[in-house]
Amino acid sequence: MIVINFIVAVWVRILMVLDGLLALPRLLWMILTTKGPKGKGFGGKVGAALGNPKGQRLIFTFLRAFIPNLSLKAQLVKAYQNTGTVIVGRMADVQEVIARNEDFEVVYEPKMRKITGGANFFLGMQDTALYVRDTSNMRLAMRRDDVATLVQPPAAKQAAAIVAGLPGRIDVPQDLTLQVPTSMVQDYFGIDVGSRQNLIDGATRMFWYLFIDLAGDPAVEAEALRYAAICREAIAGSIDARKGHLKDDVISRCLALQTSGTPGMDDVGIRDNMIGLLIGAIPTLSKASILALDQILDRPDVLAQAQAAARSGDEAAVGQILFEGLRFNPLNPVIYRRSALDTVIAANTLRACRIRKGQMVMAGNFSGMFDPTALESPNSFRAGRPWQDYILWGVGMHVCFGDYINRAVIPAMLTPLLARQNLRRAKGADGQINSGGTPFPQHWVLEYD
Ligand code: HEM
Repeated sequence: MIVINFIVAVWVRILMVLDGLLALPRLLWMILTTKGPKGKGFGGKVGAALGNPKGQRLIFTFLRAFIPNLSLKAQLVKAYQNTGTVIVGRMADVQEVIARNEDFEVVYEPKMRKITGGANFFLGMQDTALYVRDTSNMRLAMRRDDVATLVQPPAAKQAAAIVAGLPGRIDVPQDLTLQVPTSMVQDYFGIDVGSRQNLIDGATRMFWYLFIDLAGDPAVEAEALRYAAICREAIAGSIDARKGHLKDDVISRCLALQTSGTPGMDDVGIRDNMIGLLIGAIPTLSKASILALDQILDRPDVLAQAQAAARSGDEAAVGQILFEGLRFNPLNPVIYRRSALDTVIAANTLRACRIRKGQMVMAGNFSGMFDPTALESPNSFRAGRPWQDYILWGVGMHVCFGDYINRAVIPAMLTPLLARQNLRRAKGADGQINSGGTPFPQHWVLEYD
């Protein structure tokens, strides 16, 4: 057995090196043949290729083989103070960075405080008593067993009604994947004061500012903070409206905790927790569904399997196919942290890497999910992989609070659409994902018979 293990381990590494070598000419070819934005020349082509998940995979394939932990003096992130950048590509090292909470800290606190107009939100907190208090409170209010009763059934019902009402053609984000999570936020979270569009635009703008705008664009901040004020007001209004009229929703449960004297559950505490959950919920579920479905549509055999599963009402099987699709283009390709000290990752290995205090550490979960030393045949599309092969929405202490909601709502939203005959992209530009200048899909038209 030891001999077989040794041979397999060596073989996997030889293949990794060969793959890494081949990745460079393939990347070059991709850059040369990619259409960049007009007037931007070769730089534009490079940008377009690197913005494409296939291009990113090629870079990571090279890095994993030859520079699995790349430490740079360059400060690629401008939005948060730092002393340089480290790009981490192997699954074990990604897991190590995320597991070492005390050494590699979340950086979101200053932006979280601007969004709430004061307090931090738990995703911006280190492993403190306050973090445990707030997440514990919110887990009492947003329970895992709600997924089977208050989350999945209404999502499935709404998605089915939307698709049934649109014979032949659907603008996926506008008609479906933004609508279902927004209804969840209104009916299940209980944020039902104010307009639906403000919830969608607000969550999108705030998510963009908090997590995506690494360049620190003042215009992105201004829009996010404008919407933060609107959303704070909508949540405060919803809290007031619930007092004396409790329902079976998250805000009502927070108010029940307030009545019992639970620390952290005063009106402002509830509002600040709810704004954090709102930001996570709408654009993410929409975009993740679309990225997954887009991968499925690129693979006719997989599409046929997904459609067969959808027609037989097997949402679990649809989910397995969609999550495997999302592995090929995850919404968050890296999870970033800042080093609190001078330290080493992957110690006692050939890829050990020194990290300076203050460096931003980009834990490449996208890369990790294609690491041949961690996953079986990572380049093959194989639905039903063990769940630990996936890092689709974080891992460890800050793993997505909506983890189980995502696992249920994404297939619930897409199953009725996948069940339609001859599902296909619309012809021309309409059938391509259009983000309308934001990092989130705004339009994407599909057709069916
Ligand atoms: C597919 C959709 C989603 C994706 C891709 C996603 C992505 C993520 C990621 C990557 C993280 C970890 C960030 C980090 O470690 O720096 C995270 C955390 C979080 N997400 Fe999501 N998310 C999704 C849906 C949701 C939903 C539906 C909710 C609300 C119920 C939500 C609320 C949160 C919260 C509150 C955290 C912080 C958890 C903590 O600090 O303990 N997310 N999400």
